[in-house]
Amino acid sequence: MAANPCSLNPVVLRNLPLFSGLDDVELDKLSKVASRKRVERGASVVRAGEVTDSLYILLSGRAKVTNTDEEGREIILAWLGPSEFFGEMGLLDGSPRSANVVAAEACELMFLSKDAFQRCLQDNFQVAQKLMKILVQRLREADRKIESLALLDVYGRVARLLLDMSEEVDGLRVVKKKISKQDMAKMIGASREMVSKVMRDLELRGYIRYDGDLLVIPGV
Ligand code: CMP
Repeated sequence: MAANPCSLNPVVLRNLPLFSGLDDVELDKLSKVASRKRVERGASVVRAGEVTDSLYILLSGRAKVTNTDEEGREIILAWLGPSEFFGEMGLLDGSPRSANVVAAEACELMFLSKDAFQRCLQDNFQVAQKLMKILVQRLREADRKIESLALLDVYGRVARLLLDMSEEVDGLRVVKKKISKQDMAKMIGASREMVSKVMRDLELRGYIRYDGDLLVIPGV
């Protein structure tokens, strides 16, 4: 991963929700200590267990947050897209990285050293407030996932995942994002075969249908 030593344009920082409340002086200060780099699809940006040194923000591209067991089985904890950050957990509590973060496609990343990020938090309470808000959202999502795993069977988990991924387009609920059955399985703690079976079943019963690249969920 080649690091680009150029500092960032403050305008790029202003467009990131985490820093959008900063004034020009603060944005300028931050832009001088931030760096950017590009990573290719499949690159591992953060590895579970490593000692923490930076906070990352995705400027473009998508990344997945994963963990693996001793047998190499992978679970996907979350997907991250443009403007979303990662690497904050280790920076905040000083523990090693809690998970892997892997580029799911080519990504442009901005990163800040631990010192620079801590200084930014100390000097700008609104950044700390935004950070807390996003961490609370992530905790809510994690609670929902725990609930799904504990209370729903694989049918229920697939159905909930599809609904969570869906959006309304022209009065219909559709899933636009392409996701493989393998990745779905890794998100809900099931086998790919089981996910395929459930998806076939949902289609046969008319609960889902494919319309070109879209997956439509009628009747919701
Ligand atoms: P850190 O532990 O430093 O390194 C791994 C990062 O993955 C972690 O910080 C978070 O930024 C991110 N991460 C871990 N779990 C989740 C989750 N459930 N949702 C979103 N991001 C996560």
